[in-house]
Amino acid sequence: MMKELSLHILDIAQNSVRAKASDVKIVVKELVDANIFEFYIEDNGSGIPDEIFKTIKDPFTTSRTTRKVGLGIPFLNNTCLACGGDLIITTKINEGTKLLATMFYDHIDRPPLGDIVSTIVGLITSNEEIEISYTHWYNNQSFEFSTSEIKEVLGDMSLADIRIYRWMMDFVKENLEEIKNA
Ligand SMILES: Nc1ncnc2c1ncn2[C@@H]1O[C@H](COP(=O)(O)OP(=O)(O)OP(=O)(O)O)[C@@H](O)[C@H]1O
Ligand SMILES: [Mg+2]
Repeated sequence: MMKELSLHILDIAQNSVRAKASDVKIVVKELVDANIFEFYIEDNGSGIPDEIFKTIKDPFTTSRTTRKVGLGIPFLNNTCLACGGDLIITTKINEGTKLLATMFYDHIDRPPLGDIVSTIVGLITSNEEIEISYTHWYNNQSFEFSTSEIKEVLGDMSLADIRIYRWMMDFVKENLEEIKNA
């Protein structure tokens, strides 16, 4: 089963939310000329305890109590390996966690990125109290978007306000198109 990479990114970012992170940084790099697709998600949450970390790429590792399997990380790991890359996880208790996923850009099995704009804006609007920053690289062009910048100009308007939502969707979409066409 193929799953778009933006949905993998959403899964991994949701782990950060569950780990009580107050800052989540998401970086996507489409390095087409170098034939590399990579992304990382870095948080300042709880960190992953040793006993979970040891077998984190195994689907039966989860701290969930509602079910006995955790699929987010094993699934992404399989995708990276299938695409000639790797999933590298670094973590420290009470400091945070970073997951770096790499793949060959042109690998036949690499899933498409999918709707990254809705993913990022959705994450932001549903986690208003978390500072989220998003950086997208396309070769040597980059665009960065962060909730801390937006909050400064919002005044007492909510990030979940429909007008702000629409503005964020358009703004991110336009900027991503711009770096791709540069
Ligand atoms: N960023 C993180 N910070 C702290 N712990 C994490 C983080 N990411 C994962 N974990 C720990 O690793 C476990 C496995 O993560 P994984 O995403 O594979 O499965 P899950 O989140 O438990 O379930 P699913 O992703 O299927 O909803 C989690 O239950 C959690 O204990
Ligand atoms: Mg998960």
